[in-house]
Amino acid sequence: MVDTGPDVEFIKIGDLVSVPFNIACGRCRNCKEGKTGVCENVNPDRPGSAYGYVDMGGWVGGQADYVLVPYADWNLLKFPDKDRAMEKILDLAMLADIFPTGFHGCVSAGVKPGSTVYIAGAGPVGLAAATSAFLLGAAVVIVADLNKERLDQAHTFGCETINVALGEPKDQIEHILGEPVVDCAVDAVGFEARGHGHESEEEHPATVLNTLMDVTRAGGALGIPGLYVTGDPGAREESAKHGSLSIRIGLGWAKSHSFVTGQCPVMKYNRQLMMAILNDRVQIAKNVNATAIPLDEAPRGYHEFDEGAARKYVLDPHGMLARAS
Ligand SMILES: NC(=O)c1ccc[n+]([C@@H]2O[C@H](COP(=O)([O-])OP(=O)(O)OC[C@H]3O[C@@H](n4cnc5c(N)ncnc54)[C@H](O)[C@@H]3O)[C@@H](O)[C@H]2O)c1
Repeated sequence: MVDTGPDVEFIKIGDLVSVPFNIACGRCRNCKEGKTGVCENVNPDRPGSAYGYVDMGGWVGGQADYVLVPYADWNLLKFPDKDRAMEKILDLAMLADIFPTGFHGCVSAGVKPGSTVYIAGAGPVGLAAATSAFLLGAAVVIVADLNKERLDQAHTFGCETINVALGEPKDQIEHILGEPVVDCAVDAVGFEARGHGHESEEEHPATVLNTLMDVTRAGGALGIPGLYVTGDPGAREESAKHGSLSIRIGLGWAKSHSFVTGQCPVMKYNRQLMMAILNDRVQIAKNVNATAIPLDEAPRGYHEFDEGAARKYVLDPHGMLARAS
């Protein structure tokens, strides 16, 4: 924290803090119920807001030298001991978004000790979900993708892996578990999903949702942090251009599935996960292959990420992460 506005009472200059990607007022009904991903007061168009995100209230992005945090006393998580926090600062950087998001996916999917879990997507959110599943006590964590390098990264910390380009995940799940179903499933892909098997070169936005319903046991739950949009002008199908997807809701109904979608309410989880990091219960930075780069190398980071690099790039505008390591 380098400066505070006149209404900030409890956060002080010099505090080391984490900034949730959601912007929330702390005063509305949703914030009071812990649903900070759908705050009612920070976006004139609809509930929910984030820094630098299209259609989310026009707040300036946080990938910069400095960021202005509104309602700072409410939004910021202060690290209790600055020196201890600096020892784990790359891990703690994951608290702003992907770690709580992956954790939310697993909590929503009902992951418990002994659960079998299918996680679609081995990007940063999928790997954070896999890390979270282990933290919650899962017995088997199966991560699916079509990017071999990302699947190899999932394998480094004990996940089973499935390459969806080789065919339907159900058959491969049976091979791993001895049965073609899992207890819990997480969508860490969203509307940009590729098809499976011979359709894996094309985008099929409903693929992951339908697979999750197919492979999750009756009575199970689906966590859906993967993003779905109200409109996708570039979609192949006319209905998808308006945010309508062909999902097999009848199958989900027949299996009594419950599902949770939407922005992760970061504040609901970031303190718990901070404690897990500070007390060596989890190695999130290692698992997602977090890689700090200077701000002026952001275009390279974006390019490599778009190409499917098995890394979570972290922008380090003041060299703080580089110095800490
Ligand atoms: N809900 C939230 O609060 C929240 C927060 C952060 C990110 N997100 C969303 O989570 C999703 C994942 O984020 P990310 O940064 O890891 O994205 P990413 O694009 O890096 O990763 C997605 C991965 O899914 C893989 N994939 C594509 N089709 C697949 C399929 N059919 N089955 C399995 N894997 C498939 C891709 O190869 C890619 O590796 C995105 O939709 C992102 O917008 C949501």
